[in-house]
Amino acid sequence: MSYAIVYSSRTGNTAQLAQAVREALPQEGCSYFGEPHAEALSVDIIYVGFWTDKGTCDEQTAHFLQGLTNQKVFLFGTAGFGGAPAYFKQILDRVKANLAAGVEVMGTYMCQGKMPQVVRDRYEAMEESPRRTAMLENFDRALSHPDQGDLDALKQAVAK
Ligand SMILES: Cc1cc2nc3c(=O)[nH]c(=O)nc-3n(C[C@H](O)[C@H](O)[C@H](O)COP(=O)(O)O)c2cc1C
Repeated sequence: MSYAIVYSSRTGNTAQLAQAVREALPQEGCSYFGEPHAEALSVDIIYVGFWTDKGTCDEQTAHFLQGLTNQKVFLFGTAGFGGAPAYFKQILDRVKANLAAGVEVMGTYMCQGKMPQVVRDRYEAMEESPRRTAMLENFDRALSHPDQGDLDALKQAVAK
């Protein structure tokens, strides 16, 4: 089986997931590892990693997914907000909307990914409210992610 791992990562979280996918699969089958690129199209399975931007995948990933025709894909991604599986499902549904009918989704995986300090600074500047408190708590929860547990769970999902 030949496969490619393509991923988009602005601050390194999704890159960590991509590395875990690489470690979980037999090295000899890997024909491409890196940013979304046409070189990744001619394989049996494409593992596609994205970071969440405005509730869906980043634009670079969306563009790549829209270019697929009949490949098999495994989608993995990170998001700043976590904790609720329904939230991840909502994101994944939006990501899948980029795919043509002939593309088969073999599996999906998402976890939380830490955000830059400027985001916390912005929350801190907001007026006190339950929403502000929840956002600060979420920010702090995200700081340790992706952690080893996230990476192990992804490896398991990929090895299935
Ligand atoms: C411009 C921008 C927009 C973002 N939008 C969202 C969002 O809508 N939902 C969310 O859960 N996280 C959002 N995040 C958080 C990132 O998706 C999260 O930190 C992710 O792990 C970053 O992955 P990376 O390190 O691979 O770039 C946003 C981050 C940035 C910088």
